[in-house]
Formats: sequence, structure tokens, C-alpha cells
Amino acid sequence: MARRKIALIGGGQIGGVLAQLCALRELGDVVLFDIVEGLPQGKTLDIAEAAPVDGFDVQVKGTNSYADIAGADVVIVTAGLPRKPGMSRDDLISVNSKIMTSVAEGIKQHAPNAFVIVISNPLDAMVTLCQRITGFPHNRVVGQAGVLDSARFAAFIAWELGVSVKDVSAVTLGGHGDDMVPLVRYTSVCGIPVMELLEQKYGAAKAAEVMAAMVKRTRGAGGEVVALLKTGSAFYSPASSAIAMAESFLKDSKRVLPTCAFLKGEFGVDGLYVGVPVVIGAGGAERVLQLKLNAEEQAMMDKSVKAVKDLVATLK
Ligand code: APR
Repeated sequence: MARRKIALIGGGQIGGVLAQLCALRELGDVVLFDIVEGLPQGKTLDIAEAAPVDGFDVQVKGTNSYADIAGADVVIVTAGLPRKPGMSRDDLISVNSKIMTSVAEGIKQHAPNAFVIVISNPLDAMVTLCQRITGFPHNRVVGQAGVLDSARFAAFIAWELGVSVKDVSAVTLGGHGDDMVPLVRYTSVCGIPVMELLEQKYGAAKAAEVMAAMVKRTRGAGGEVVALLKTGSAFYSPASSAIAMAESFLKDSKRVLPTCAFLKGEFGVDGLYVGVPVVIGAGGAERVLQLKLNAEEQAMMDKSVKAVKDLVATLK
């Protein structure tokens, strides 16, 4: 079987890590595209020269030409500005919409059969724009946010409880903004509801406080990294998260991953991209898995969905 091909649009911080992860995991040949001359070529040359050390047999190529993404099975988009301290993701909409418009046109023309994963922010709006411009079916255009938001939540829980991150199963819903919905009730450690363990440790009142702090930290986790870095936003964890989605598609694993997907009535939302649990396989975003929300969770979801709707409405 011929090797699979992964095109990465945007050769900045996330793009570079994506290229390296694709190579290390031998997911397929990699093309790294950027408008800055020399940047993708330099990064990919650097990665390729590590191949004899790491032992990966894939090609890693940098380019400034969309023609080179032809035949890509997966396209991951990180083109666009990252946040600076004090900015919200939504502040990026005007400049990143222009970038996404040109990127989506390039993908439409040169990789018409690809599964597209968008990472550029503001995520929910950028995925919407990418799908509108490519005209690809909704199951082939998704956004990465929920895998990362859930991973952050899981990490905080694992650190708090002193257990392996591997045994925490956490899920977040909604938009990739400050209103995202970490679902405490559906979060567990080896199947044990997380609140049960926190209550054993702290008693009910303090457990609720500790959880509230972790939920708050999860919502602001991207900003926490931005405030520390000062020159950009998170890049290792967003790259790992998108790779999990790409890998599930390429291997038809049917992993259930929190994904920014187009809803057609699920969760009471119609015609909008929002983060929900999705089965990702060879058919792209194959199926949305629904779960029952209580009144409080539904209210948080509604608030998050409204924020996404308002933002998407500002797209030209
Ligand atoms: N086409 C392709 N690439 C572009 C374009 C364009 N029209 N415009 C800008 N770029 C490239 C830049 O040259 C840069 O190399 O996008 C890259 C973005 O890289 P970084 O600035 O390092 O940003 P990064 O940290 O990778 O984040 C990218 O993902 O998480 C989001 O908020 C983040 O929107 C940001 C995006």
C-alpha cells in the first residue's frame, strides 16, 4: 500500500511539532506549507535529518506551493496568528478569517478529497469558514479543540488525585472559548466518578471547591500558557491532540474524541459547529455520540453554543 500523505498548512510553532510527530509515528509522508519562504523548508530539513537517529521512513518536505499538497489524505490547518497576552481567541477573527479564506481555497483546489482538521483560532468560526469555502461535506471538515480541552482537564485531575493520566477519562463539550463545558459528571478515574474520589479525599464541600477550581483552570488553560510564553500560544499539546484525530482517521480506529463537528439536531443544536464527542474513522467525523445533560449542564452548553453562534454570525 502506498504511504499516506499528510499536509500541514502553517509551518509555525504548531506546524513544526505536527510535522515531527507525523514523522516519529510514521503516519505518512508529510508536506509542510507556509507562505514564509524558507521556514517550512528549514523545519522539514531539520526533521528529516533526524530520521537516521529516530529511524522513521517517511518523507518530510517543506513548500510554499499548494501544488505540493496534492493527494493529501489529511490536511491539518494551523495557518493564522496566535494570541498574545490579554487577547481572547475571538480577537483573532478578523485577521485569521482572511488567512483561512486563502488556505481553504488552496485546499479545495489541490486536496479535494482530504479530511481536514482545523486548529487555527477562533476555532469554531475558523472551522465553519473552512467548510463553507471548501464546500467539503461536513464529515470531512472538523476542528481540534475538545481533545486538548479534555486533556487539560484530565491532566489537572490526575495531578490533583496523584493518579496516572492514563486512567482519567474526561470530556468537555461546547465551543473552544471561556464558556466551554467540562463535564464533571461524566469524568472518571478507572470508571470511578471523579467527584466520589475527591469527596473521599476532602469531604463534600471542599471537593466541590477543588473541582470548581479545576473547571476554571481548564477554561482558562490556553490563556495560562499564553501569559507564561508572552510571545505566542500553546503548541505542543494542540499538535498532539490533532495528531490523535488524524491517526484515528488514517487507521480507521473509530476513537471517540471530543471534536468540533457540525451538528444537525444533536444536543438540540442545528446547523452549527460545536464541540461534542465524535467517532472518528475512515469516514471522517462518522457519528456524534449524544449524552444526557442535566439542567445545569444544559444551561452551560446553551451559553457556550450561543457564544459560538454570535461569533459565527460575525463572519462575512
Ligand atoms: N497561509 C499559510 N500560512 C500562513 C498564512 C497563510 N495565508 N498566514 C500566516 N501563515 C503562517 C505563518 O507564517 C506562521 O508560520 O501560519 C503560521 C502560524 O504559526 P505561529 O504564528 O507560530 O502560530 P501557532 O502557535 O502555530 O498557532 C497557529 O493555531 O492554536 C491556534 O491560536 C493559534 O491561530 C493560531 C494557530
